[in-house]
Amino acid sequence: MNITFIGTGYVGLVSGTCFADMGFNVTCVDKDEAKIKALKDEHKIPIYEPGLEELVIKNTKAGRLNFTTDLSECVPNSDAVFLAVGTPQGDDGRADLKYIFAAAQEVAHNLKDFTVVVTKSTVPVGTNRRVAATIRQANPDADFAVASNPEFLREGAAIGDFMQPDRVVIGAEKDSVFDVMRQLYLPLTTNGAKMIETNLETAEMIKYAANAFLATKITFINEIAALCDKVGANVMDVADGMGTDARIGRAFLNAGPGYGGSCFPKDTNALAATGFDNNARLNIVETVIKTNRQLKKDMAKRVKAAVGGTLHSKRICLLGLAFKADTDDMRDSPAIDIATELQKAGAFVTAYDPQAMNNAKAILPDIKYYDDLWTAAKGADAAVIVTEWDEFKNMELAKLAESLAQPVLVDLRNLFKPEQAQDKGLKYSSIGRPQV
Ligand code: UGA
Repeated sequence: MNITFIGTGYVGLVSGTCFADMGFNVTCVDKDEAKIKALKDEHKIPIYEPGLEELVIKNTKAGRLNFTTDLSECVPNSDAVFLAVGTPQGDDGRADLKYIFAAAQEVAHNLKDFTVVVTKSTVPVGTNRRVAATIRQANPDADFAVASNPEFLREGAAIGDFMQPDRVVIGAEKDSVFDVMRQLYLPLTTNGAKMIETNLETAEMIKYAANAFLATKITFINEIAALCDKVGANVMDVADGMGTDARIGRAFLNAGPGYGGSCFPKDTNALAATGFDNNARLNIVETVIKTNRQLKKDMAKRVKAAVGGTLHSKRICLLGLAFKADTDDMRDSPAIDIATELQKAGAFVTAYDPQAMNNAKAILPDIKYYDDLWTAAKGADAAVIVTEWDEFKNMELAKLAESLAQPVLVDLRNLFKPEQAQDKGLKYSSIGRPQV
């Protein structure tokens, strides 16, 4: 089968490459000529995602993965066209769908035989029907049907998530559409992936409900952590104690500096807006959004307490800037709030991140970046672990204590045991655990 992916962002590039690896002929289309040229000529991928480059090279060389700026080269021969363009947050907190509808129009003019137009981008309930109407209006004779196929990829673990999914969700209205989608996902369902077939609105809703629930789970444990801090409990043991209950599950109960990234903040806002618009307010989700926003800001207060009550003229070293490990993505990263609040309080901020510094420089131009962890930490009044990179998990704590001007480590990811840090001479503060 021939597949087209419109949009070579995170979702399009990972999903397109994985479909190629499963044996389909895939063409990825993007308007960004420089990006397509780099992908085509140098196999240069625009994002940091473990394993992706190797897979792009392998499948391009095998002739199954192609890149173009011109969708008329591939859409007419495609069995399925996936829309994987961005749906960024608009000024009103709702998803901005202009790229989706623009892509739908362009696709419409190039449809030939029966084609399934699949929306993979995260779009609010009702969008797939609007995509169908847009195509129908642009090309009344087109032989097509739409499907909703939300993605559940985590940045940093996207290839594994695609190849071994917990489930594949398909929303559609016609058997012929389900047939095409079943064929496309056959290599995964044969390996045991569960396929959930439902209507368009339900598939769209599943995506938002899943992300909002995960954001809620994280925010819940973050609030429990704040209470643990006050009463002498240990949030990691609480998470284990709760998480071993099969009804709850341990995943996404790691307390931290608040959730960030390109999905949870945007999708919780969009879902809350859908609730508001439909007169079915989502009070829990609205509270999660507010709580998480405040929590990210409050992280600077922890640093302030750890360095003795004032940040004025203190040199603070941030270890990690990306919103999570194994990505260079800075979108809505807690590091942005933390650095900004520290600077407002008069601190001089230095930073090191193994992958995200280039992206960070555009957002946080006034902090001092270093190419390695030790020069960044040298002479600082405190080091603050913001991102859970392996490099930080494995760093020598005694060396850190020596490098710092004051041996203060604020660990916002609970990477170490308090006693372990204390033994190495550090004053150690973490999330929801005793300070030592
Ligand atoms: C998330 C979902 O996990 C994916 O299933 C979904 O496909 C994706 O959004 C999307 O909608 O595209 P992602 O944002 O890449 O994936 O990363 P996550 O691993 O979910 O982490 C999100 C945020 O939650 C990060 O800031 C992370 O540090 C934080 N988090 C996660 C915690 O603070 N604690 C946890 O226990 C887990």
